[in-house]
Amino acid sequence: MSEESMILVEKPVGFRDYVTTHESLKFFFTGGKGGVGKTVAAAGIAAYFAKEGKKVLLASLNPVHSLSSLFSQDLSGGEIKLVEGIENLDAIEVDISDKVASYKRQLADRLSWFLKWADIPLKASEFIDIAATNPAFEESAMFDATVDILLQQGENYDKIVFDCAAVANAVRLLGLNKIYGLWLQRMIKSREEALSLRVKLSFRKDKAMEEIKKDPLMKDLLGLKERTDRASEVLGDPSRTAFFFVTLPLALPISVVERFINMVKGFNIAIGGVVVNGVIRRELAERGTEYLRNKYEEQKRYLEMIEDKMGPLVRAVIPLYETEIVGTEMILRIADDLSTWTPEKGLFL
Ligand SMILES: Nc1ncnc2c1ncn2[C@@H]1O[C@H](COP(=O)(O)OP(=O)(O)OP(=O)(O)O)[C@@H](O)[C@H]1O
Ligand SMILES: [Mg+2]
Repeated sequence: MSEESMILVEKPVGFRDYVTTHESLKFFFTGGKGGVGKTVAAAGIAAYFAKEGKKVLLASLNPVHSLSSLFSQDLSGGEIKLVEGIENLDAIEVDISDKVASYKRQLADRLSWFLKWADIPLKASEFIDIAATNPAFEESAMFDATVDILLQQGENYDKIVFDCAAVANAVRLLGLNKIYGLWLQRMIKSREEALSLRVKLSFRKDKAMEEIKKDPLMKDLLGLKERTDRASEVLGDPSRTAFFFVTLPLALPISVVERFINMVKGFNIAIGGVVVNGVIRRELAERGTEYLRNKYEEQKRYLEMIEDKMGPLVRAVIPLYETEIVGTEMILRIADDLSTWTPEKGLFL
């Protein structure tokens, strides 16, 4: 563990203090089990920064987007749009289908070129269909889209908040980068070997060298390597990137976050902290129905569990609201609740 993340783990601070003392943080990710409130938390974080006068981009990386319905305005179309009702905030629902399609085309080009180059009498289309139906294909398109935003929009915004799909995706997203890097290194090396062999075997060495210089596979590989290296640099830099885990006071989401924290540590990504969402307030339980009181009792156990397992990492506790969260007014309310919570208040609201 890096020195910086050691300090983060030791000192319990609320969200606002955390981000004020880590002013250089630019990229925020939310992760957690499905349905725990990742999108809501990401929107709350983004709205908080926007209210503080920062220029903010909220980027949804879910294959199924929910920003438009959350903000109750059209944010679809895969382009950056202004969010109405919250100054300084832009949002984008990243369109992966375009990426997948262009991947397919690129793969088709490269494969046909390679099969021809290597004198292999097979049709590229058979391979492409197999490759494109692989679920990793969509994930890697998603990863690519994330890297695009990291590298292209970093300059344009003070803060960029990424709303990731379910836990596995987000972790794989980070893991992929490491794996990509290793894989690319191997690929580049073997490509170099193949090309140099071709020169050695060739009668017309000058012509072979010419051909090698134009080698599109090598160009692709080197370009990709440069991108993943740059992305790794950003993702692995705890002064720029922080990951927030969202959980409900329930057994499964808690264990997912626990697992998540351990996995992310392995990838050298800074843990920003844990956001506990959907906590029933005592006052609400007291004047509520028997059902609500039971639920309140039930949640106690899980809040104690969170305290036990990851207490010092908790940065915010968001109450369960009377209704689902729709519209900018409610998002601003989350931003408020998120940023006014302090460890002294404790997990029980
Ligand atoms: N604190 C809360 N109070 C009331 N409703 C909430 C709260 N947090 C989230 N919700 C509601 O729960 C639902 C799920 O929230 P959200 O979409 O943010 O979860 P998610 O983790 O992003 O889900 P997915 O895994 O599908 O992306 C939404 O309908 C949202 O309005
Ligand atoms: Mg979501």
